Amino acid sequence: MQAAIMGYGTIGSGVAEVLEENREQIVKKVGEGIELKYILDIRDSIPEHNDILIHDFSLIENDPEIELVIETMGGIHPAYEYIMRLLEKGKHVVTSNKAVVDACGSKLIRTASEHQCNFYFEASVGGGIPVIRTIYHNYAGEKLTEITGILNGTTNYILTKMRESGAGFAETLREAQKLGYAEQDPSSDIDGFDTSRKTAILLSMASGNRCRHEDIYTEGIRDVSDIDIAYARKLSRNIRLLGSVQAVEEKYFAYVAPVLIARADPLYMVDGVFNGIRIVGNCLGTTMLYGMGAGKLPTASAVVSDIIAAARHKSHFQGIGWSEKMIEIEPMGSNAFRYLIRVEGMPDGMEQDIREYFLEDGSSWEPVLLDGRTDEFGIMTDVMFESDFHENRQEFEEKTGRRIFHFLRALG
Ligand code: HSE
Repeated sequence: MQAAIMGYGTIGSGVAEVLEENREQIVKKVGEGIELKYILDIRDSIPEHNDILIHDFSLIENDPEIELVIETMGGIHPAYEYIMRLLEKGKHVVTSNKAVVDACGSKLIRTASEHQCNFYFEASVGGGIPVIRTIYHNYAGEKLTEITGILNGTTNYILTKMRESGAGFAETLREAQKLGYAEQDPSSDIDGFDTSRKTAILLSMASGNRCRHEDIYTEGIRDVSDIDIAYARKLSRNIRLLGSVQAVEEKYFAYVAPVLIARADPLYMVDGVFNGIRIVGNCLGTTMLYGMGAGKLPTASAVVSDIIAAARHKSHFQGIGWSEKMIEIEPMGSNAFRYLIRVEGMPDGMEQDIREYFLEDGSSWEPVLLDGRTDEFGIMTDVMFESDFHENRQEFEEKTGRRIFHFLRALG
């Protein structure tokens, strides 16, 4: 099968490497080799591939021998236009590009169906972790009620390091940038947008319908401080940036935010650059996928799995994905959490007021004090709707004159 790669950056070059490294095995699985005929890139020279380097997309588009195209350019434009034109010509396309899948996935899936070719995007979420195909194939008979994941390696690395070293966010980010674990412009990772796009793709996969990542409440990790981490340690919890979707009786809930997770949660042990995705089904119960969510070869490995799938389903559309029907996501206020609140002053004399706003009858009174700090204490609230929490928080501050310096959502 003749193929082309569009975009020879980290992932594109990783795909060429995996295709070469695992050539024999791929031939055995597919029944034929995957031969790279073109690499489209903006560079003037790629020394090891100058014989197939091109700069003109129309060569790929108009070459009838090209049956499969690997899009690893990133970004929405011109990736979207190129993919669309290729699908319209009946060529299979596989991509690692979460931006294009999130923004235009349903249109691309429909176009693939109209032209009896395939559009696959396994590597767009969870890098080397096979979450898209698992949802589509393995959990096809399940009603998925929840998918909650640590979907971004950069932020997980930073939060893990903060816990290990006790250092603050800014210092840890600088260190991560120096070591190449965080981008020089880290916003898409640390402000949660990367996680939000992946969460939208997971919600679309789970619901079978389309959603917009812009409609998902998204909060990154910039405001997580060394003091928050110290509370997490005292509570035997980890703070993790989660992307979460829930389906309850045709209603969809979703958020991206840093959350305190308990030891009993399988996501608790997902450290460093790793990703973990906890999936709950009505018959299945809870399962978790774990592995490298980013990086050259793990991500390229997922792209190659799509290449093999495309070669195996050469002559028909395999409808992995979702419809164009848009679903509504419930407002953030209708999600429920426990909250760690960091209250100004010491806890003496505060029990009654805190109970009134944050604890149910019969809940135990367990203030959390940090060694050497007398200016604040922490309390874990009972489970509350987010909208009630914000209302109660404001009323508590007005009534008591005590500020709540910061809060963190908690699960379990
Ligand atoms: N920046 C992303 C991460 C790469 O840190 O996980 C994979 O999307």
